[in-house]
Order: sequence, then C-alpha cells, then structure tokens
Amino acid sequence: MAAARGEFSSRLGFIMAAAGSAVGLGNIWGFPTQAASNGGAAFLLVYLFLAFTLAYPALMAELIIGRHAHANAVSALRLISPNRLLRGLGACTGIVGFIVASLILSFYAIVAGWMIAFCLSAFSTLLGLGNINAWLTEFGFSRNLSFMLLFMCLTIGIISGGVREGIERWSERLMPMLLVSLVLLVIYVLTLDGAMEGLKIYLLPDFERALSPKLIISALGAAFFSLSLGVGTMLIYGSYIKDEENLPVVGSLVTLVDISIAVLAGFLVLPAMYVALHNGVEIFTPAGQLISEDTLIFTVLPELFATMGLAGTVVSFVFFFLMSIAALTSSISMLEVPVAYVIEEHGVQRKAAVWVIGGLIALVSVVILLNFSALFGLVVAFTTRYSQPLLGFMFCIYAGWIWHRDQLLGELRKGNPDVEDTLFWKIWPWYVRVICPVIILAIFAQSLWG
Ligand code: PFF
Repeated sequence: MAAARGEFSSRLGFIMAAAGSAVGLGNIWGFPTQAASNGGAAFLLVYLFLAFTLAYPALMAELIIGRHAHANAVSALRLISPNRLLRGLGACTGIVGFIVASLILSFYAIVAGWMIAFCLSAFSTLLGLGNINAWLTEFGFSRNLSFMLLFMCLTIGIISGGVREGIERWSERLMPMLLVSLVLLVIYVLTLDGAMEGLKIYLLPDFERALSPKLIISALGAAFFSLSLGVGTMLIYGSYIKDEENLPVVGSLVTLVDISIAVLAGFLVLPAMYVALHNGVEIFTPAGQLISEDTLIFTVLPELFATMGLAGTVVSFVFFFLMSIAALTSSISMLEVPVAYVIEEHGVQRKAAVWVIGGLIALVSVVILLNFSALFGLVVAFTTRYSQPLLGFMFCIYAGWIWHRDQLLGELRKGNPDVEDTLFWKIWPWYVRVICPVIILAIFAQSLWG
C-alpha cells in the first residue's frame, strides 16, 4: 500500500507549485483571447467576480479533502465516505478525474510543444535559416510530434524527482522567471504605438455585454480551467501540505496569484493585438469578429513580432519562452494526478510509474495528432467543458454533503484553531453545499444544451 509520501517543505513552496499548476496556457493564452472576443473589461469583471465567489470555494473543497486524507483523490474520497455505495462513487470520481487529467495533458502537451517550437524559431530567424524557421512555425506532423515528445520528456523528468526535488524545486525556479518575463513584456508592449487602444478596450467595461449568458458561462469555464479544478490536481497538491498550514489563507493566495497573472497577461495580449492592428496586421474580420480566436497567439502575435525587426525577434523569444514555462508548471501537476494514484494504490515505484504513464499519455497525443481535425477539439471540449465542471460538482458534494462536518472543521482547525470564528467558516460550508453545485450544474446544462 501507501509508499512514503512527499510533502512541500514550506508554504512558499506549496504556493509556487499550486500557482504554477493554476497559471498556464489558460491564463496567458485563454483568458486574454476570451476577454478580447467577449467585450474586454466586461469579461474581466465577470471573471474576477466568479473566480473569487465560485472557483475559490471549489478550490478549498479539493485542498481540504486532500490535506485530510494525505492521499490521492481515489483514496481520499473513499476515506471521507460513510458507506459502501458512497465509497464506490468516490473511487469512481477519483478514477474519472485522473483519466480526465491525463487527457488534458495529452492535448496540452501538443499546444505546449508549439510554444517551444515558436520559442526556438527566434534563433532560426536570427540565423536566417528559412527552411528550419518554416518547419518550426508551420503546422506539420513531424514538428508537432517532435515538440510534443520533447515537452512530455521535460514533464516526466521533473515529476520523476518527486514532490520536493521535482515539483517544488522547479516551480520555485520557473515561477519567478515567468513573472519577470511577463512584467518586462507588458512594459515593453505598452510603450508601442496602438497599445493604448487595446488598454482602453481592456479597462472600460461595456456593461450590457457583462450580463450576457454566453459571457458568464465562458468566464466561469475559464475560471475553473484556470484554477485546475475538478480533476484532483489541487486535491493531490493539498495532500502534500503540512498540517499546520492555514488552508483558507494559502488557498486564497493561490487564487490571487492565478488571477493576477491572468489579468496581467491581459495587459500584454490586448494591447499587443492593437499594436498589431496599428502595424497593418489584420486582427478582425469585416464583421468585427476576432480572427481565429484559438490560434491568435500563433498567427497575430508572430506577425506583430515580424513587423518589429530585431526587437521583435527578442520579444518573440521571451513571449514563447514564458508560455513554455507556464505550460510546464501546469503539465507537471496534471501528470502527478495519475502518478500519485498508481504509486499509492498499487505500490509502483515513482520512476516506473512516471515513465509508463507519461508514455501512455504521449501515445494518446500521437493518436490526436494523427487525427487532428477530428480529435483535438473533441478532447478539449470533453475534458474542459464537460468533465471539469461535473467533477468539480462531485468534489463540492463530497465536501458539502457527504463528509462529516465535524471532521471537516477538525481539519481546518489544525492550521487555525479559531477558524470557527472566521468569515470563511460562516460562509464557505453552505456555499460549497448549495451555491457551488447549483451553479456548476447550470454551466453543465448550458454546455449540453447551449
Ligand atoms: N490551470 C491550467 C491553465 O490555466 O492552463 C490548466 C490545468 C492544469 C487544468 C492542471 C487542469 C489541471 F489539472
């Protein structure tokens, strides 16, 4: 059974790792592009509101259950269930969670591979290697496969090191790098002509759009994906936190870092789009729609960088390097979910578990690459639009209805003996019981029938 478990050595280590998981392509690519096509500041406001009022409570459910069980999601949900039926349902939820986490990694590794390829293309541009540059930046099987495999090897390499030597150590190195390069890029882009136009769109809300149902649903999906909820990632990271940590505080710090980076990325991507427009790059269709929302980063931004000469090459390198790091600190958290499960439930050695599971996920990525147009969008929609909200719903049900309230309180008291007197304890328990499940179900219904 349970092998010796890892643990984060410090609060900072946990915050870096959990924020590393949360901050990823979803923040730097997904959030700004969605904001750009959903009314800028209106989307920003709704996103901020939902992230604090819904995603944070759901994050807390995962962290508290994980820390209590000091185990993976399958064992944790079993442990807090009072009877056989609920234990079985809990185990199923955990298993579906790790399958979904693996599937998310299978498409995420493909996109992250493109980021590395675009990052390297700065060198081929500088050296005037036109053929290599075309291979790196154009959609093709050999490029997609090579960089997906490279990215998976990096993820596997870090996860083999375990919690402290792998996840914590690398998150502590990569997250500051990410923050510094993001801030430098924002400052630079804001000095360019046209940037202020984008800034205006980002900061002046159009309240009519803020209330549209489509916008609210997209913002909620973005907040859940962004905080890595539903698949057991945060539960596993919670299981590696020391007992004396005050969970509501560390959870809110992680939420704050995640949201701040998404908001900061908006200060980069929206102004950059308008700088591109200013430089003659087409970013809107004649009907005023954003061109190719999903591929914006790979089409509009490189075109923008190309109009900026040598500075553009440097900026392009920094930008795609930043994206690659953000993707890596998220992918390690996805791989840790199935890995922790097989180590703890089946007594497999970490190295063997990491290579076998990482290899299997890479195989799924190859299948997606071979049938890209049929499978890519399908896997993204199945995992992020349907599975994540539904699994998030299950975690809220387990934390709010199935787990005994006294045990829950006992877990929170370990890090804060006076937790009963806090606002958190007055609001969160019924919130996670009623409000979160109802709203998550509403999103789920909307994604099915919307
Ligand atoms: N939060 C990550 C992002 O914003 O890119 C995505 C993610 C990471 C989703 C880990 C799910 C997960 F388990």
